[in-house]
Amino acid sequence: MANALQDGFGRTIDYLRLSVTDRCDFRCVYCMAEDMRFLPRQQILGLEELYRLARLFVGRGVKKIRLTGGEPLVRRDILGLCERIAALPGLRELVMTTNGAQLVRLARPLAEAGVKRLNISLDSLDPARFRAITRTGELARVFDGIEAARAAGFERIKLNTVVMQGRNADEVLALVDYAVARGLDISFIEEMPLGEVGRSRGEAFCSSDEVRARIASRYALLDCAEQSGGPARYVRLPAHPASRIGFISPHSHNFCASCNRLRLTVEGRLLLCLGHEQSLDLRALLRRHPTDDRPLVDAIDRALLHKPQQHDFSAGGEVQVLRFMNASGG
Ligand code: GTP
Ligand code: 5AD
Ligand code: SF4
Repeated sequence: MANALQDGFGRTIDYLRLSVTDRCDFRCVYCMAEDMRFLPRQQILGLEELYRLARLFVGRGVKKIRLTGGEPLVRRDILGLCERIAALPGLRELVMTTNGAQLVRLARPLAEAGVKRLNISLDSLDPARFRAITRTGELARVFDGIEAARAAGFERIKLNTVVMQGRNADEVLALVDYAVARGLDISFIEEMPLGEVGRSRGEAFCSSDEVRARIASRYALLDCAEQSGGPARYVRLPAHPASRIGFISPHSHNFCASCNRLRLTVEGRLLLCLGHEQSLDLRALLRRHPTDDRPLVDAIDRALLHKPQQHDFSAGGEVQVLRFMNASGG
């Protein structure tokens, strides 16, 4: 497409991660501070502003939009927003990342609103450990939410597990069993040192190599021929063809060369890369130009030339970005 978004390294951007709220009903240790303060209402984008930006990006060739948070399902009227975004001509798929706590109520309406796939966070199968990681989460509700999502007809459901020594690294095999028993995908994620929470968290780090070795101790692993173009490397278990196991390893930055994505924070900052601070204040432009999209499109094109070649979370676990994950959309 002549009009597609391209960065300074010739990468085509066709995936937008759109954060619809910084709020969440959980307080995961790797994501938020315990006494997290949330943004005042006037600083976050309104639903019309979110829709306008989604439309504008789809008009410039974005094919996939992932709604993230915080927890996207705590945003009021999220279903109406999903319906409108899903109907944008040219969009291939609207997907969502959620903590699962509201899915008993919302899984079916989300599927009906046009959300094609869900990624659901699940860090432990033990209620007390789950509570310790999420600080407020109730595991039984998430289990019920996962079942509701399975019954609601999504094309695919993927579980996300951030692996931490001393908290859940010994549950990797049990989590794989849980996923394959239900035909779900599961991705194991290396923790990223973002925000103030990143400062003290190095000792919990567990590498994807270690996770993979734990799984290989029980299962034969086959590298997947088709990779997603995203940050995860996928393998399959020959005995369980319905499930894929992913490894997201930001510490060995192997996916930056084919990076296809931008993130929009709920304050309307367009982040060019998860691991860098460069951003464009689209909220200011939106509010200055309520009807004319041209200045926004031009500013996005210019900003894209500054999208970094790669992130670097590998420099000794140093925190380089003082931003909480819940404000960046994960
Ligand atoms: P799909 O590829 O669409 O399934 O989704 P995803 O895995 O990109 O999305 P999800 O929201 O489930 O994110 C899973 C983890 O991947 C989170 O911890 C994200 O922060 C991380 N992640 C997603 N995109 C990037 C990226 O561009 N760079 C890095 N370093 N991590 C990313
Ligand atoms: N490092 C790695 N993954 C994280 N997530 C949230 N914070 C971090 C972090 N610091 C993951 C959650 C969720 C997704 C949106 O991001 O597990 O699945
Ligand atoms: Fe909420 Fe997700 Fe952050 Fe946990 S990781 S506090 S569920 S936004």
